[in-house]
Amino acid sequence: MTSVEDLYEIWSRDSELRETLKQTLEPRGTEWLFELFASLGPRAGDVLVDVGCRDAKHAIRLVREHELRGYALDPLPLHVELAKAEVDQAGVELTVLEGAIEALPFDDHSVDWIWCRDVLVHTDVRRGLAECARVLRPRGRMLTYVTLATDRLEPRERNLLVHATALVPESLDPAQIEAAAGAAGLQEIAVHRLAGEWRERMIEDDSWNAAEALLMLSRVQRREDALVEAYGAAAVDAVRGGQLWGVYQMIGKLCPTVYVWERDA
Ligand SMILES: C[S@@+](CC[C@H](N)C(=O)[O-])C[C@H]1O[C@@H](n2cnc3c(N)ncnc32)[C@H](O)[C@@H]1O
Repeated sequence: MTSVEDLYEIWSRDSELRETLKQTLEPRGTEWLFELFASLGPRAGDVLVDVGCRDAKHAIRLVREHELRGYALDPLPLHVELAKAEVDQAGVELTVLEGAIEALPFDDHSVDWIWCRDVLVHTDVRRGLAECARVLRPRGRMLTYVTLATDRLEPRERNLLVHATALVPESLDPAQIEAAAGAAGLQEIAVHRLAGEWRERMIEDDSWNAAEALLMLSRVQRREDALVEAYGAAAVDAVRGGQLWGVYQMIGKLCPTVYVWERDA
């Protein structure tokens, strides 16, 4: 353990270390996921499904950039409406469907690519990945971005996130995700453990305000009872969970992870 004497001695001469930590590490950002998809070699006419598409903006971009045929799928009617409006406006060939990963509305072996970004934590991964493997053609590929717990996420922190942001606890666990993929017959082609990279990029690009996130967390803490009275416990918990999501990525409690899986031939 560092002694008090050592600590203050260290702090009195750590300016070089601090300067080093102010230099960018050139983190990858959200754009990199599209570059990764492009590097996998999609071909014009291939069939893509965006599972958990929300407003379908990513599906629209992928279909346009790679001349794919596509489906955008989400279980929430609210998101299906949003997605339909975006697709109409974009004028692309993309079919929006209401449905969940655990029961995909596609024939066996009918899909070339699955894009699944930021969805698996809400789902039953064993059933969901088995469905993905069922609908993928042999050697079809699935690109998944999922935020997973690390061993720094304490049980109470985990419970708070699970309850506040509608997570399936097992689906936060890398071992469970990897076992579910293996059991489904999805071979791991690549895994990228991004840790805080996207959030660093967002701060460096000014597209995420980490200071605002911390201010909201502190204000929620100091005014919790009044906020719960005014807005309800679920809304207050959801704000807290949503803001902690980014902060925990930056301090190593959550690790955004990208998997590229290929269906067995
Ligand atoms: C955090 S949003 C991500 C949306 C989008 N993929 C993106 O990256 O911006 C999670 C999405 O997963 C959807 N979702 C929740 N449960 C799902 C399920 N069982 N199957 C498929 N999608 C689901 C939600 O409705 C929501 O649109």
